[in-house]
Order: sequence, then C-alpha cells, then structure tokens
Amino acid sequence: MKYAILSWLMVLSLNKSKYLSIVLLLTVVVYTACKQPQKEEKAEMYEASELSATMRVMVDFSKAAKQSIAKGQSIDSIPSVIWDMATAHGTRDEHLESDFQSLTKPYLEALKGIERGDSQSYYYYKSIDACKSCHSVYCGGPMAIINQLD
Ligand code: HEC
Repeated sequence: MKYAILSWLMVLSLNKSKYLSIVLLLTVVVYTACKQPQKEEKAEMYEASELSATMRVMVDFSKAAKQSIAKGQSIDSIPSVIWDMATAHGTRDEHLESDFQSLTKPYLEALKGIERGDSQSYYYYKSIDACKSCHSVYCGGPMAIINQLD
C-alpha cells in the first residue's frame, strides 16, 4: 500500500513535470512564433501595418491565381500594391532590414515571370517558394496559410 502511494506520487510528479514541460514548450513556441501585436496592449488602436496589408493582398491574389491555374485559365492581373512590398512599412521595420530586402527579390522575380506569362504555373510555385523562404526567416506564423497555397 505504501509503495502504491509512493509510486502513485511518483507518477503524479512525473505527470506534473510533463505538464510543466508542455507548458514550458508552449511558452517557448508562443514566444518564438511571429510576435503578434499584443492583444492586451491597446487592441482597439491596432492597425495592420502597410506590409501586413500588402501580405493580405498577396494571400488573396495567390488564392485566386492557384484557382486559375487549376482551371487552366491565365492569371492576367497582379495587384499593383504588391510591386511595392519592398518599401511597405512593417510592424517591426522589417522593410529596413537587408535580409528582408534580399528576400523580396525572388518573390518579385517570380511575379515578373507570371506577368510575362511564360509558364504561369511554374512561376506561381516559385512565388510560393519565395513566401516560404522569407517566412522561414521572418515570422513563421503564416506558414499554415502559405502551405495551403502550395
Ligand atoms: C521578403 C519577405 C516576405 C515574403 C516574400 C513574404 N512575406 Fe509574408 N510577411 C513578411 C513579414 C515581415 C510579415 C510581418 C508584417 C508585419 O507584421 O508588419 C509578413 C506577414 C504575413 C502575413 C500576416 C499578415 C497579417 O495579417 O498581419 C501573412 C498571412 C503572410 N505574410 C503571407 C505571405 C504569403 C502568402 C506570401 C507569398 C505570397 C508572403 N507572405 C511572402 C515577410 C514576407
């Protein structure tokens, strides 16, 4: 009986530490994921940055482009705001960073390919690869959305 209680206690503490490590892990994950605007901090004052707004246009454009490709239709217009993504102000001034600048190039190159109409499917997938490369350096949060575009 004593041993039963003892081992039960051990299991309990094991579970506790498991629980603790899960909590710890989650905390780490939350912290390393894209730092979202702090909700408790002036949530009602938060406005999407210029870059966030552009990203949302990019998501919509890519969804539509993927559908066009699936239907065998051509993609005939690229929202003009996307061409300015390299100068769109990011929440954390990402646009001023050289990493960000160099990662915009493959994306814009892929868009040029789509615009030329060479092989739109080829360049479309290049563009999604470019989303992934930048988001593996910058916030990884939107990766689930990006994977749906692949
Ligand atoms: C050159 C780097 C770069 C490329 C390429 C890029 N992103 Fe982003 N993306 C960012 C950064 C940096 C942010 C954070 C912007 C901010 O918080 O101001 C972001 C934010 C986002 C967001 C969150 C927007 C929001 O609502 O706040 C989504 C969704 C997103 N990107 C999707 C995409 C998709 C889809 C692509 C490709 C079509 C893409 N991104 C290509 C750097 C990039």
